[in-house]
Parts: sequence; structure tokens; C-alpha cells
Amino acid sequence: MAINFSLSGKQFLQDGADVYALFVEQDFDFKKLSSELLALFPHLETYCKEQDFSGKEQSNLSIPVMHEQKLVYILLAGLGKKEKKVDIENYRRALARIVRFMQRVKVNNLALHLPLANLFGVTDQVLGQETATIAHMTDYIFDTFKEQEGGEKDIEIILVLQKHNRAALQKGIKNGEIIGNSINDAREWVNLPANVLRPDELASQAKQIAKEHDLGCTIFNEKKINELGMGGLAAVSSGSEQECRFVILEYKTDKKNAQTIGFVGKGITYDSGGLSIKPSKSMETMKEDMAGGAAVIAAMKALAQFKPAVNIIAIIPLAENLPSGVAAKPGDIVRMYNGKTVEIKNTDAEGRLILGDALAYMAKNYKPVMMFDLATLTGACQHALGPFFSGLFGVDESIIKKVEKAAQIAGEPVWRLPLTKDYEKAMDCPVADLCNIANPKFMAGATTAAVFLKNFVNDIPWAHLDIAGTSFNVPDIPYQRAEMATGVGVRLLIELALQWAK
Ligand code: BES
Ligand code: MN
Ligand code: ZN
Repeated sequence: MAINFSLSGKQFLQDGADVYALFVEQDFDFKKLSSELLALFPHLETYCKEQDFSGKEQSNLSIPVMHEQKLVYILLAGLGKKEKKVDIENYRRALARIVRFMQRVKVNNLALHLPLANLFGVTDQVLGQETATIAHMTDYIFDTFKEQEGGEKDIEIILVLQKHNRAALQKGIKNGEIIGNSINDAREWVNLPANVLRPDELASQAKQIAKEHDLGCTIFNEKKINELGMGGLAAVSSGSEQECRFVILEYKTDKKNAQTIGFVGKGITYDSGGLSIKPSKSMETMKEDMAGGAAVIAAMKALAQFKPAVNIIAIIPLAENLPSGVAAKPGDIVRMYNGKTVEIKNTDAEGRLILGDALAYMAKNYKPVMMFDLATLTGACQHALGPFFSGLFGVDESIIKKVEKAAQIAGEPVWRLPLTKDYEKAMDCPVADLCNIANPKFMAGATTAAVFLKNFVNDIPWAHLDIAGTSFNVPDIPYQRAEMATGVGVRLLIELALQWAK
């Protein structure tokens, strides 16, 4: 479904909507509410008290009323406590709850009393962007394989303005639509089952986007990947009948002498574990193992439209990790793109093998000023941080700060985990340069995976984000859906590139 935004300076109740929604801070003052609203429902204060509604975070109050011979809803959405300001995340979630309410009562026309941007300490453009992004995120559902009920209408959102800057809002809304659509593309790819989204299929999606948005695109097939000496990617793919792919997307700015930054995304379209096979329960959602790659492709689609003054290279190594008679075996030794040898002790630690080749290829051939990879890399990270924080790793403090700042603005929380010298020997191996699983005494599975990756960045400033816990099935956030992909990383990557270009 599409969402259409319009701006209105008219009175709140004159827009013929089905839902009239407004945001209230905790313990709000009834006298400050729109007088039209109070005229329509004079007992509002008594009713709120009766319903114990005080504007707390995550709370809504809906009131059906007759307005011009039509049943409409007044919807109050709680923003929670205001300290110096209200956290913009509270606005995102309150807005998402409003859209969820409309989905529940099956109506399509919303008049939204837009709060002032400075309540959240942001600009009107940012407010517009967040509004459109979140509306699109909340609207998305993975129903590609469900019989359609049919007749679904577009959602109309009328933003009822106070003293907002219209031009800034419009610009923000346009940007938010681009971001929201890109996030939903990434989610759709992650949600598509692995029998539909094979490595070559995701590669064609990337190619299509490159064509539509004027990005450079190079795709290596399995033969070329072998010729280039990407022993990690080739070994991971060897058990599958499906060919692996190595996708390179390039965005070039018109600005002279601009810097180049690099994004890498893990693209395992299915992770069975290979011969080190996973238990069936852990395999159920392993179609999500290309969420890093999906985020990188989707972010490139948005960035191609935003055109920041920085060059961006994106690499997505794609493969299926399956067992077979020709699959990689525990004990195999392979040579990676940078010449280092790796003993594959566990075929389920496949992400680091394909990322090692991708990072080494990027470092050698593009020498970007910074590389940032996103990967559903370890169950250990998922267990350490759960579904609300991605794990951030790196040794370059300035890159870490930039990622943390972008994550904060984007609304995609990250938490730094250690990657210090003490862990460096974790991947030592008696028979090769590296082992693909750590010596068990080092524990810290998410960190030791990052230690492995660090061997392939060739001193280029780099950071790694483990999104194993955050890419799928995140509960209790109303613009996400349980049992489905989140699109994590898209907003962060876009923000990081835009900040870099500033
Ligand atoms: N794709 C998995 C990690 C994962 C786990 C992603 C849960 C999303 C949710 C990765 O390839 C993997 O299997 N990692 C192993 C590494 C181990 C063998 C060292 C793990 O975490 O168990
Ligand atoms: Mn695995
Ligand atoms: Zn994996």
C-alpha cells in the first residue's frame, strides 16, 4: 500500500478523516488541547481520568465520536515524560501505534496533529523525515505469499500544522519516503525464503537498482571468484548447487577529490551450518543470514537518490551454506583473497570467511578511508545484547564515534563490545595462519569473530556491526513486526554516509 502525505493549515477537525490523532506528553494539561476537540468531546478530561490515561509512553486512548454524521475516532497517543525534551524515539513509537490503530479498525484517512519539532530537539525537516520513514515502516507487512484479501486502499495522512516550516517538512517527508521504501526493500529480501531468494536473485536485484539509480555495478560469478583467489567465499559456497556471487556497487559523487568509504554486507542467503550442521530449531530463521547484505544494497538505493558528496563502494558476497558431498569439511585449509590461509574447523562459522574475502578485496582494490561491515555474524552477540542493540566492534576510535553518532541519530542503537589486543591470539592455528573458530579459552564469541575479520582489513580504518540479534523478530517496537525482518542497518548506513559528506 502507498502512503500519501498532505499538509493542512486548516482546523483540526475539518479534514474529513477517520482518525484525528494527537500526541500528548505525560500529565498533559487538558486546557492546552485543541478547543475544537474539546467542543466535540467535552468530557475528555473526565474520560481520560476514568480510563487512567495520562499520556505515558506506549499508551493510547481512542474515543469513538460522531462528527458530521460520521463515526470517527479521536486518538490520543502518549509521548511519555518530557525532561529537557521528549526522546524522538517516543515520537516514532507513538506514531507507529497510531498507524497500527488504523490497521486494526481498518480505516485509511488520518488527520495527524503534528507536534512542534523543538519538542524533540529536532528541525522540521527531521520531523518530516521521521514521520514519513516510520509511517512506511509501520505500513509494511510481508504478505507476498498470503492470499490477498483485496481492496486495500492507500493510506492518506493529513498533517495538521501549527507554526511549522512547510518547505522543510516537505523535504523531510520526501527523504523519509526514500528511506522508508529502502528499508522495506531490505526487509522484503530478508523475509523472502531461501528457495526464492538465491544468491543470483539478490545479485540481480542489486543490478536492477544500480540500473535504475545510476550506480556502478560489477558482479563476479563463481568461476571468477575462484580465479581471483577468494578461497573463503568459494569454500562456503562449495556445498551448494547454487553459484555464489560477489556484488560491487559504486556510487560516485560529482564533487572533486571526495573521499571514498566502503560498506560490506554479509550475504548468506541460507545458513544451514554446512557439514557442521545446525540443530533444526536454529535453522528455522536462517534465511535472514543475508540481512547485512540487504541493508547495504537498500542503503545504496537511498544514497543514490540523496547524492552525498562522498564516493561509496559497497560489496556484498553472496552464497548458500549447505552440506553435500563436495561441501567444505571441518579441517579443510583454504587460501583467502589476501593470501592468508585458514583452517575451517567449523563450517558454521562461514560469515567471517566470505567477509574476510570481501574486506580484503575492498582494502586492496579501492583503499577507502573507512570500511564498515554489517553481518548476522554470531549467536554470541545475539545472546549478549538481545534484540535491541547491535554489537559494534573496532579499534579506530574516530570511526567508532562516527558510527555511534549515526546510530543515535538514525534510531538504530548500537553497543560497543571489546576488540582489544588481549583477544588477538584467539584465532591462532597450529596448521594455518588462522583458524575460523576461536580457541575456547577466549570465550567471547562475538569478539573473536571480529578478531578474525580484523586480519583482512589491511590497516584501513574499519568497524564491524554484528546484527544477529537485531535483524529479525524484534518484539514490542510498534514499527517492527515480530517474526519478521527489521531492515536494521539501512537507516544507520544512510546517516553515516550523509554525515561523512558533511
Ligand atoms: N549466521 C550465524 C549467526 C546467527 C545466529 C545469526 C543467530 C542470526 C541468529 C553464523 O553463521 C553462525 O552460525 N555462527 C556461529 C559461529 C560459531 C560456529 C563459531 C554461532 O554463532 O554459533
Ligand atoms: Mn553459520
Ligand atoms: Zn551465518
